[in-house]
Amino acid sequence: MPTAKSDAFVFFGATGDLAYKQIFPALQALTRDGKLDMPVIGIARSGWKVAQLRKRAEDSLREHGGVDKAAFAKLSGQMQYLDGDYNDAQTYDKLRKALGDAQHPLHYLAIPPSMFVPVVKGLAASGCSQGARVIVEKPFGRDLKSAQALNRTLHRFFREHDIFRIDHYLGKEPVQNLLYFRFANAFLEPIWNRDNIASMQITMAENFGVQGRGKFYDEVGALRDVVQNHMFQVLALLAMDPPANRSADAMRDEKLRLFRSMRPLQPGDIVRGQFDGYLKEAGVAKKSTVETFAALRIHMDTWRWAGVPFFIRAGKQLPVKCTEVLVRLKNPPQQVFDSPDQGAVNFFRFRLSPNVVISLGARVKAPGEAMKGHPVELVAHRDVREAMAPYERLLGDAIDGDSALFTRDDCVEEAWRVLDPILGDKVPAHKYKPGSWGPKEANALIDGAGGWNDPRIEPAPKDGK
Ligand code: BG6
Repeated sequence: MPTAKSDAFVFFGATGDLAYKQIFPALQALTRDGKLDMPVIGIARSGWKVAQLRKRAEDSLREHGGVDKAAFAKLSGQMQYLDGDYNDAQTYDKLRKALGDAQHPLHYLAIPPSMFVPVVKGLAASGCSQGARVIVEKPFGRDLKSAQALNRTLHRFFREHDIFRIDHYLGKEPVQNLLYFRFANAFLEPIWNRDNIASMQITMAENFGVQGRGKFYDEVGALRDVVQNHMFQVLALLAMDPPANRSADAMRDEKLRLFRSMRPLQPGDIVRGQFDGYLKEAGVAKKSTVETFAALRIHMDTWRWAGVPFFIRAGKQLPVKCTEVLVRLKNPPQQVFDSPDQGAVNFFRFRLSPNVVISLGARVKAPGEAMKGHPVELVAHRDVREAMAPYERLLGDAIDGDSALFTRDDCVEEAWRVLDPILGDKVPAHKYKPGSWGPKEANALIDGAGGWNDPRIEPAPKDGK
């Protein structure tokens, strides 16, 4: 197991969208912080020369955070471009030469999953996988069976601790904060259970559509795009037991135990939706029944959570861009004073985007003779603009060989086990209007638990990210 720092960074898909939006900005930041003193080799099949890759990197940085002259000059100097077909053995021979003396290269597969197999085979046959680590992008399979097959293939060439499955939600500052807040404080743990908590819900709302990614999106839909990965990871951080320590496996063991306790979803636990106009998006099949909205009810069979419903709602073309968790506590057993407004008297709110809010909902007495009150929210608030970008954090961790923020094979498979029974067209996709909170059918799922919490914020710019 290479515990040493990686000594070459190779990225497949160098001319693609992901490199443009996320990888170049992360590479510049890592270079600026002195964490990327190594060859940086971009690979693609675009017939480019290195000058074009440098230009592409510069354009990307202009659009995403700005060019840092000194860091960019250094990064450009380290950059190489390698042109080749992913199915051609010569591509990997060229890569082997370009790697020179590197002992622990890090190969980032920023390419569609259909290309994972030829690339890992090529890396192994050419010796480029020796002592190496590999980063794979989501989606990790399309269901349980394909995820198992993908894991089997990866394991033929790489050991599990050398495989880094990226889920950018785990690199987000507020998501890290969720874990920190839960386990750095003593007051939460005694109440974090079925005796005190009535329900939890996560809403991931986006106020834009598929943004030109129609072809990709139509093959996945909301469940595979954001629920199986991002939302389940947030759910795990909210509900898992305390890890024994900070090690990658201690964290992932607890997540695994939680996923294992989740009942496989039944058709009655899910509502799917599709926004009006989705079928006109470029790349989308004319009669597509793929969901752009999903609402789920999840049950966990553990002593901690038996009987406590967990809800997830994720959708495109909703009124705002915001991801928020609401934990409703049980109401006081007896109403001594005024009867409160409908809903939970006490709650925790964790807003994960666009800003970080952690708040506790309570009631306080209104001034005056009567014992009457009103709800207040005690708020801790942070701006995340200065925080480290998820890809910078995650690529830095992968270079260091720290897999705490990456998903393990067994966790990925357990998450698919939960979703597998309701994937596809098991339940219809109801139409909803862009700018609404999704199909009304989603309300029935949560009516008994106080209804959905619709995050109230100023609408974010329409470009999404
Ligand atoms: C990506 C999905 O993984 O996450 C997108 O493919 C989604 O469809 C995006 O928009 C959301 O990420 P963020 O960081 O903007 O919440």
